[in-house]
Amino acid sequence: MKLKKPTEISVKDIGKGYYEIFYNSKKYYIALLRVLRALNREKQDDLEIIEGLRRAVESLVRRSKRGFTYSIVTTISKNGALTYIAILGKDKSVIDREIEVVTSLIDSMSNGNITLKHSKSGIIRPKILVIPLKSRYKVPVPELHKIQPEVVRVPEPLIKPIHNGEIYLGTTLSTSYNYPISLKAEHLFRHIGIFGSTGSGKTTTASIIAYRASLKGMKVLILDWHGEYTNILKKGKDKLSIFTLDATKPMSINELNINELISKPTELLEVFEQVLDLSPAQLFILDQVLERGSRSLRISPCWLKSLVELVAVYNAESRWSIEARDALYRKLKYLAANIHCSSSSNIKTTSINDHDITVIDLSKVVNTRLRTLYALLILKMLELSAVEHGILTDLLVVIDEAHHVLPSRTSEVTGIARKLLAEMRKWHIGFIIVSQSPSSTSSDVLKNTNTKIIHAIKSNIDKRIVVDSIIIRKELEDTIPYLKVGEAIIVTPEATEPIIVRIDPRPLINIEIEGSLSGYEIELE
Ligand SMILES: Nc1ncnc2c1ncn2[C@@H]1O[C@H](COP(=O)(O)OP(=O)(O)OP(=O)(O)O)[C@@H](O)[C@H]1O
Ligand SMILES: [Mg+2]
Repeated sequence: MKLKKPTEISVKDIGKGYYEIFYNSKKYYIALLRVLRALNREKQDDLEIIEGLRRAVESLVRRSKRGFTYSIVTTISKNGALTYIAILGKDKSVIDREIEVVTSLIDSMSNGNITLKHSKSGIIRPKILVIPLKSRYKVPVPELHKIQPEVVRVPEPLIKPIHNGEIYLGTTLSTSYNYPISLKAEHLFRHIGIFGSTGSGKTTTASIIAYRASLKGMKVLILDWHGEYTNILKKGKDKLSIFTLDATKPMSINELNINELISKPTELLEVFEQVLDLSPAQLFILDQVLERGSRSLRISPCWLKSLVELVAVYNAESRWSIEARDALYRKLKYLAANIHCSSSSNIKTTSINDHDITVIDLSKVVNTRLRTLYALLILKMLELSAVEHGILTDLLVVIDEAHHVLPSRTSEVTGIARKLLAEMRKWHIGFIIVSQSPSSTSSDVLKNTNTKIIHAIKSNIDKRIVVDSIIIRKELEDTIPYLKVGEAIIVTPEATEPIIVRIDPRPLINIEIEGSLSGYEIELE
């Protein structure tokens, strides 16, 4: 028997996704196009994509009758699968034109859900043997070699649960699979924690989610610690009504105002305990004062200053109570020192429901403790209002710089954070809690935020605390300090594995602001 000598074939990578093939002393060209989901489409239905692919393949079959040879090749590695369309022909310029035709053909066949991208070189390994193709040219197509590991970072099944939500976040960080990633409303009601070192992009990410949630009809309330949100949101291209309230001015939101809170001293006590770090004795005295004095505080337009006076005249009998009263007096007096009381007739009431986004600008409150007090009072009023009157619409509340508002304590006696997060979801209030320092933020924040968005964290302690609250691979964990601005690891309960996403802030341009920049409402003073 005479063995037939195998035909010589050589493959040369000539760049830009083209390969030159020499076969039986003839030259052919092959171009590889990667099949990708289109980027940045907010809604993508899997069935629609499959149907689109089917239509696209049908039209390729028709084209191959016109003299082109198409192959569809799917490569599988431990990192996932990649699909290519290979076009084989004798003339490179003809293939070039064909690529253009096919790209637009597939775009329209798939209703824009699928795009083709010219493959990078290095995917076919030259000089490898070949699967014969039934083609006009009878040219074997080179075996597609194993994909380079960095080509696919995110296997589709892992991100499936979060790529077809309503609130678009950005795309997966990968050279090949740029899947759009989005959150669903349920994610918001089970609360979101955003963590990262200074300048890593937390506030921008929170603004984007708030902005896009309000486009979907949710009302948004932002406790703006540094007074940055209005400016960021201003850049949004859709017209939303944004109302900014200056927290130093007297204000009242919905039917909630401080009088309602003062009539419930236990709630107020909880807030003061956290803000002023009160000892049990000081707490006892404040409790007594509030119990007896809440009526006179209610009618006072300047209740905090009145409270200081009430503490001053508290009749302390024993030595411990005198000491405790004096200490409490000093703490409260310092807190109330910068307050300029205005008469209650200036108070205007605004409703969270009247605006798409209500921003409470806390930055003009100079004293940090007072700022924390204001933030907590607003949250308490919101809680009371939800419990007593119900919240009419879905509400998203953003708390930035949470290590100030909801700090960690050696003994978490008050548990304000836990109560807020655990109990508010039943009123359809979702929270975004933003912190640059998870280690100094209440541990209840990590426990009660089901979705975590982790920007670059440089500090080892902070990184450890966040990583301990999630399930994450070592290699991914190691990338946390090196994420670039705007990149984040997203952890949701549905996704089997955290993924890196590049947060897309683009739609935040040209928004018109309504309302006054120095608003009035939420009566704190
Ligand atoms: N996704 C993004 N894409 C591009 N640029 C971004 C992105 N996120 C943030 N930036 C830019 O990075 C800078 C810091 O962002 P940002 O204020 O959101 O960070 P931060 O983590 O809130 O910082 P801080 O700890 O100081 O509050 C800003 O100039 C912002 O425009
Ligand atoms: Mg910030």
